[in-house]
Amino acid sequence: MGFQYIDNELYVENVKVEDIAKDVKTPVYIYSKQHFEEQFKKFDEAFSRKHCISFAVKANSNLSVINTFAKLGSGADIVSKGELFRALKANIEPSKIVFSGVAKTKDEIKYAIENEIMMLNLESTDELYAVNDVAKSLNKKARIAFRVNPDVDPKTHPYISTGLKKNKFGIPYEEAFDAYLKAKELDNIEIYGVQFHIGSQLLDSTPIYDASVKVANLMKELLLKGIEFKAVDVGGGLGIVYDKQKDNPPSVEIYAKQVEEAFKDFEDVLLVCEPGRFLVGNGGIMVTKVVYHKKNVNKNFIIVDAGMNDLIRPSLYGAFQEIQPIKRGQNEKIVCDVVGPICETSDFLARDYEIEDAQNGDYLAVFSSGAYGFTMSSNYNSRAKAAEVMVDGNDYKIIRQRENLEDLIKGETL
Ligand code: LLP
Repeated sequence: MGFQYIDNELYVENVKVEDIAKDVKTPVYIYSKQHFEEQFKKFDEAFSRKHCISFAVKANSNLSVINTFAKLGSGADIVSKGELFRALKANIEPSKIVFSGVAKTKDEIKYAIENEIMMLNLESTDELYAVNDVAKSLNKKARIAFRVNPDVDPKTHPYISTGLKKNKFGIPYEEAFDAYLKAKELDNIEIYGVQFHIGSQLLDSTPIYDASVKVANLMKELLLKGIEFKAVDVGGGLGIVYDKQKDNPPSVEIYAKQVEEAFKDFEDVLLVCEPGRFLVGNGGIMVTKVVYHKKNVNKNFIIVDAGMNDLIRPSLYGAFQEIQPIKRGQNEKIVCDVVGPICETSDFLARDYEIEDAQNGDYLAVFSSGAYGFTMSSNYNSRAKAAEVMVDGNDYKIIRQRENLEDLIKGETL
């Protein structure tokens, strides 16, 4: 369910994409609520032990999307005060919220402690002392985990690898033991968990298993020092299919089995997972309208009304996202670049891409846009941000209005 062509016309659940595009205009992000719910249930059911799914809000932080997961019992993985604000607004239970990030400010730490989240995932000993200071000023104890960098190669795009020694994330594996001993000495710190996250769009589950085993060993060593854990947080990262010809991610069942195997000696410890892309990636499309065609010497261009400000993944990572006309079977195939209106050569959605040609005014769907699509969009070139729409069965609703000109200059003065 979710997205399908019926008689060569694209539907999201029971709603024709063309109807939404004509009504809401383009570019527009369209999500399938059913798809989101199904992915959450799949993830949930794959685990047999006590666990908490804390949706990585950075993947898609629309209130309505977060709330869809909140209603299924989801927590949230957040990385800023803004994301915590959103998660709380969307009715996520504070006790299911984990806070990652290398640069949490004292103001953010205060906000998190005041709201009694599950734990702050600390990425340095500097941060440990900052958290202790803030907790002391509030006369509270802060629940913490260290994010351990296990130095395991996740074999993904270098920009989204996080668990290697050369990356800025976490505490080096060798130093984590001492960091916990330091934390134990502090009056306003409660050691609650241990966390790692080695990277995103992982298509091989071996690195996750290897990292899990390393972290389980660390937990065993710390246990000998009297340090016990209430939670072990394995981060996010499970990959999805963008390119049907190439991507072959492990199933969520295999992923869950490997993680559970690695932590089998810690049955009573709450297993926290922070999936983002898996829950929302394939549950969204971005729909854009063809504005013009042109040919420069031998190269065809389809020029559309969405640019890298609306969807930056192809430009930033060279990421592949499938693009199809929302009405198929009308035209011959051509090889072209699908480009947007931004004044940059890197403004493309696809390059040297074979696609059934579309006339000016026709709509194209960019698939797998539910994760890191809208959340990474910007106002570059003073372009208003796109609208977001959620489909639920036969109905759809706008869950974020398209920005207007006044939104673009909000807060500015002459
Ligand atoms: N937890 C932490 C601490 C993270 O840093 C991330 C993602 C996640 C969980 C969720 O990872 P996921 O399950 O979605 O792979 N903009 C890039 C992805 C950046 C991911 C950053 N961290 C992209 O568009 O591919």
